[in-house]
Amino acid sequence: MSPSFGAAARATSLYDRVRHVIPPVEWPAFIDDIDAILDLKRRRNAIILAHNYQTPEIFHCVADIVGDSLALAREAAKVEAEIIVLAGVTFMAETAKLLNPKKTVLIPDLEAGCSLADSITPADVGLLRERYPGVPIVAYVNTSAAVKAQADICCTSGNARAVVESLGTDRVIMLPDEYLANNVASQTSVKIIAWKGHCEVHERFTPAEIAELRESYPGIVVLAHPECPPEVVAAADYSGSTAAMSDYVESRRPARVVLLTECSMSDNIAAQLTDIEFVRPCNLCPHMKRITLTNIRRALETNQHVVTVDPAVAVKARRAVERMLAL
Ligand code: 13P
Ligand code: SF4
Repeated sequence: MSPSFGAAARATSLYDRVRHVIPPVEWPAFIDDIDAILDLKRRRNAIILAHNYQTPEIFHCVADIVGDSLALAREAAKVEAEIIVLAGVTFMAETAKLLNPKKTVLIPDLEAGCSLADSITPADVGLLRERYPGVPIVAYVNTSAAVKAQADICCTSGNARAVVESLGTDRVIMLPDEYLANNVASQTSVKIIAWKGHCEVHERFTPAEIAELRESYPGIVVLAHPECPPEVVAAADYSGSTAAMSDYVESRRPARVVLLTECSMSDNIAAQLTDIEFVRPCNLCPHMKRITLTNIRRALETNQHVVTVDPAVAVKARRAVERMLAL
């Protein structure tokens, strides 16, 4: 097989993975970067961990491991490659670094933040400790390493209730997502003290939107991420982490579904489950969308940007993440 024939066959087989969500006219804009990234990964012994909100050309064509925050943390703990590129946001890259202090962790854009992580500082956590002495602090993984370092344990949307109930106390502080905390509170007898942080993507969904969808699309199944307001979760048919939503669609195969979460979630599932009708709306996360094939390629070519965590902070933050992973 000639090299050019091999390259063309490879491009076609990659395109097969995304042809239901990427129009043929857009594909040529991606193929050079995809080829370069696949080659760089091999040469540099690198691996790409990608969150479920990454665009289909990243998620299906260059990522080695995909998943929700919990899966990415679990997989980061097992990585053997020398370099980890985190296609996601900064708190995810910091978590990968905490679990791999000796490896190089790269994030393609340093500005890929998170409104939840930005809503609370380590000093705020200190004030909560003073105000509620002896009450354990659960930090959502969507926090900076410095905030995790002040917490007793971390949680994700996939294990929040289990983490809260594992502590054996009648009260816990859960920060920074008020809605996630209230959604967990509705499922447990543990009293939850919440912070007032919100996800800028999920706070925008409303029960009225769900009512309109049900009217316009009879039989539609509504899935909501637990970062949505409690009244939205109550009006939905199911709520779970991004991985749980994906599993729900894959196992139950609803004919028509809406995912009240970031837009790429539907695209990534729709690429493979072509018989399901995915109804929008969805909201874009501007932070997740800072990651592109072009800056992933640049990260691998130039080692930009290396993620670092102050070693004194890292020791304590790692403890909170590892305590969660040990559950
Ligand atoms: P998941 O852990 O459910 O993937 O959620 C991460 C996130 O940032 C949701 O907005
Ligand atoms: Fe943060 Fe919300 Fe974006 Fe997730 S979707 S990274 S919680 S801003």
